[in-house]
Amino acid sequence: MPLKFPQPPLGAATDVAVFHCPFIIDAPTAGELRVRQNVKVVVSRDGRIQAIDPNHEADKSTTANKTCVIVPGFVDCHVHAPQYKQLGTKTDVPLMEWLQKYTFPAEAAFASTAHASAVYPRLICRLLRNGTTTALYFASNHLAASLILAETCAKYGQRALVGKTCSDQLLPEDYVETTAGSLADTEVFVKSVYERHGRNGLVMPVVTPRFVPTCSLELLQGLGEIAEKYSCHIQTHAAESVDQVALVRSQHPELARDIAILASCKLLTSKTVLAHCTHLHDSEARTMAQTGAAIASCPYSNMLFSRAVLPVNRFRSLGVKIGLGTDIAGGHSASMVDSVRMAGLVSRIDGFLPRWDRSTDPREESGVQPVGDEEVVDWKTAFYLSTRGGAQALGLEVGVFEVGMRWDAVMVDLTWDEDDSADDTPRENEEDVEMKFERWICSHGGEQGVKKVWVDGKTVFARE
Ligand code: GUN
Ligand code: FE
Repeated sequence: MPLKFPQPPLGAATDVAVFHCPFIIDAPTAGELRVRQNVKVVVSRDGRIQAIDPNHEADKSTTANKTCVIVPGFVDCHVHAPQYKQLGTKTDVPLMEWLQKYTFPAEAAFASTAHASAVYPRLICRLLRNGTTTALYFASNHLAASLILAETCAKYGQRALVGKTCSDQLLPEDYVETTAGSLADTEVFVKSVYERHGRNGLVMPVVTPRFVPTCSLELLQGLGEIAEKYSCHIQTHAAESVDQVALVRSQHPELARDIAILASCKLLTSKTVLAHCTHLHDSEARTMAQTGAAIASCPYSNMLFSRAVLPVNRFRSLGVKIGLGTDIAGGHSASMVDSVRMAGLVSRIDGFLPRWDRSTDPREESGVQPVGDEEVVDWKTAFYLSTRGGAQALGLEVGVFEVGMRWDAVMVDLTWDEDDSADDTPRENEEDVEMKFERWICSHGGEQGVKKVWVDGKTVFARE
């Protein structure tokens, strides 16, 4: 089947687009799945939903055929773009060693703009055909390659928040930055992205200290100033693994922990997204809730590198916004459907993993109990986290089908499974469709079944 990634001008520039959908499915809140039948959706030229008319008289020229449903595009809250070629490999050592042995060298190769121009389009197309309409990207330390990533997202029509990573210590010689150079390049990056794409454009800049261990205090403080000056998003990693938590404590004996250090540098705001946070204390989760900072939970890499499960329900009940991420390439998959399924699976683990020495578990300090039944994340909640939850974490008007929201959507053919393909009779009832959709999410997911993807009302991928 030919794959198509239309490039500008994307889709038709008509005043309004009208979509006739046999079924649309979304998750407005955690655990709530909404199925609407025979829906006419009107989308304005700027990509916003103007009207949603369910139970509309069935139209002969439907946008989706009867075996398809339309769902909100996935929001991937944590992707390392320059690690794409490493995906699914080299996860045999602990985090800090993994960075030094494999990951920093892989990222250092992006000093070559030719390399960036070769790799980034492939990643973006891969994510689009998996239904990821929005991604929060870590690029590399290089200004030029980071700008290429931002431009490539715009070229293919993916909604993206992109950060040039910053690190002025503990990196190999050919990859480390000077403090002044990192700050200057970050400011140029932020200004360039705003100039090219506007303040609330399809592509937005993100101030991105890699994580506390590889950033001097001066760098963190300077990045906090830049984020405040341009009121832009911020992203970094926090409380990720036992070796990382211990390193931060040894580097900063007084403040000791990521959250306190980031807060002291103006890096904890309502536009901050912190990856992982599996080793967070309750008191720190409360601080995040108060500031409006969000967590990007990456269940695959949390297993591989954190070797822990984020207590999603617990931290959500404390008021923290949570989205899901693939964490390419700390995670093994480029599909958010895999992250959805994995979020549900890992939440079933009762108690900490056996290798943990509970006496040194940082969560013991705040009296956090091992994960139990109350931590089970059902598939509808995981689907919500991958769409609306992620959108709320990033402050975006996507992830749910409501008037005023943007039409970032994915058409899924529910007959993806060969054993099901004979069954192409029109779906009559919502329960049947809900079950088939659950099967797509929980039994397979990924690229098979994704027929068409829209961002801002424009077609960005089609499988014909
Ligand atoms: N912490 C600092 N850098 C990284 C990274 O590239 N991946 C993950 N998973 N954690 C990190
Ligand atoms: Fe990461």
